[in-house]
Amino acid sequence: MPYDIKVNGIVRTVDVDGDTPLLWVLRDVLGMTGTKFGCGMALCGACTVHIDGAATRACATTIDSIGTSAITTIEAIGATATGAKIQRAWLDLEVVQCGYCQSGQIMSASALLAANSHPTDSDIDDAMAGNICRCGTYLRIRDAIKQAALATGQEG
Ligand code: FES
Ligand code: FES
Repeated sequence: MPYDIKVNGIVRTVDVDGDTPLLWVLRDVLGMTGTKFGCGMALCGACTVHIDGAATRACATTIDSIGTSAITTIEAIGATATGAKIQRAWLDLEVVQCGYCQSGQIMSASALLAANSHPTDSDIDDAMAGNICRCGTYLRIRDAIKQAALATGQEG
C-alpha cells in the first residue's frame, strides 16, 4: 500500500508492504544508495539514518512505523550545521579507509553532536558503540568528533 514518508525534507510516496524495512525503501525504491546494508539485523550501524534527529537503524525500522517523522539520510546531513562540521572534520583527519561503514558513522556522530555539543570520550564511545568498522578507524572517528565539537564551541 502507499506510504507517504518525509525524506530529507521532501514527502515521497512509496508503494510497499508495511513491514518493508526503511533501508530497502531508501536504496531500492528511492535509489538513495548512500545508506549502506551491512548486517540487516541492527548489529553493525552501516544503515544508520536519523528519524526526528535520533540515530536509527534503517534495516530494523519498518515503513509502517515511521508515520510523519522526519527522515534524514547521509545525502542531506551536510546541509545541517552539525553534519557539515562532522563532514569537515572527517575530511581534515582523513578518517575514511574503505568507506563502507562511514555514512553510518557520520550519521551516528552527527546525532551525538547535535544532542551533546561537548561529548566526553565516554559519551563518544557510548554513542558510537553500535557502529562497526572493519578497517578499524575508531581512533580517527573519535578525534574527528572532538574536532567537530571544538568547531561548535568556537562558534559560540
Ligand atoms: S545493516 Fe542495519 S545495523 Fe547492520
Ligand atoms: S572504513 Fe572500512 S569498514 Fe569502516
